[in-house]
Amino acid sequence: MDTKRWTVDSDVDKKTDYPQLEEAAHFLQRGHVVAFPTETVYGLGADATSDAAVKGIFEAKGRPSDNPLIVHISSLDELDSLVAEVTDIEEQLMKAFWPGPLTIIFPKKEGVFSNLVTADLNSVGIRMPAHPVALELIRLAGKPLAAPSANTSGKPSPTTADHVAKDLTGRVAGIVDGGETGVGLESTVIDCTVSPPMILRPGGVSKEEIERCIGEVDIDPSLKKEDAPRSPGMKYTHYAPTAPMFLVKDARSIQEHINTFVAEGKKVGVLVTRETAVNLSADFVRVCGSKTQLDEVARQLYGGIRSFNDTDADVILAETYPDDGIGRAIMNRLEKAAGQKWID
Ligand code: TXA
Ligand code: MG
Repeated sequence: MDTKRWTVDSDVDKKTDYPQLEEAAHFLQRGHVVAFPTETVYGLGADATSDAAVKGIFEAKGRPSDNPLIVHISSLDELDSLVAEVTDIEEQLMKAFWPGPLTIIFPKKEGVFSNLVTADLNSVGIRMPAHPVALELIRLAGKPLAAPSANTSGKPSPTTADHVAKDLTGRVAGIVDGGETGVGLESTVIDCTVSPPMILRPGGVSKEEIERCIGEVDIDPSLKKEDAPRSPGMKYTHYAPTAPMFLVKDARSIQEHINTFVAEGKKVGVLVTRETAVNLSADFVRVCGSKTQLDEVARQLYGGIRSFNDTDADVILAETYPDDGIGRAIMNRLEKAAGQKWID
């Protein structure tokens, strides 16, 4: 399959970018799979109402079919035709965080979505992305777009079009390149059909921000354990680099751990903040942000994890972060990438 590349301004310039976006939208209307930027990570989009189109997403990614997809919309007017009910709490969340990195699980309207989107559940996850290119593309396509992250299943999610191209060239009809994404981690997924509402996946909107809006919420307790989480996608290995990765509890001991692996003849990569990188000696040092700027760490995390696949590192050591605010989402992704392997 030939994979087209459309390069557009991240702000969408009406004069220069529209022919490109219109062509990408036509591909989507004809049932093809097209990757596009959102404010979180790149998504792999297809018409959420078409079985054949959505099947293309699963095939391109190699994604297990019991893992439902998030549906992306460009305006609130679309919602009524897609969901069976909207509660007051959901209204409040949409008002506060849409467009933005929050996916809300609604009871679905029957007969609208391909069953592949919802994995035969009665519910559907919907969000309105805060990215001008994504919003225009959805509007031009005139369809709700199912879109998981645009990576090969199990790999770190893509935050640039080059990451997408590396995984999916030849497997998708096209890639809309709108530059680097902003948040760098996926949306928060919340289920408000239970009381209190439950966060099924930590992400771009923090628990604290949500609680300031609607009061106390829970976090799916199984996220921390190995038993089946309520968000089906959270049970799979995810975000993993090729080399084994370990999480280091105390950043001050990283050099000691590096030395131990080096003594075993291993090449060591480290993923650390710029403060920790000072005076550190390892084969591959990747800096992602600052201890005092966890937004920056989130933005650079997946690119950092991915970058080790271009090295011959035998082992990767990663710094860890406080488990609150955006740190909760960072730690969730790091724990999955490391398969819960910690060293003190
Ligand atoms: O930021 C994002 O959300 C990105 C961008 C592209 O928008 N998309 C994304 O999609 O991360 P995906 O498919 O990789 O993750 C969807 C997550 C999975 O954990 C899935 O299990 C959960 O949302 N999910 C989707 N529909 C659900 C439902 N009806 N009930 C429970 N969880 C659901
Ligand atoms: Mg994903």
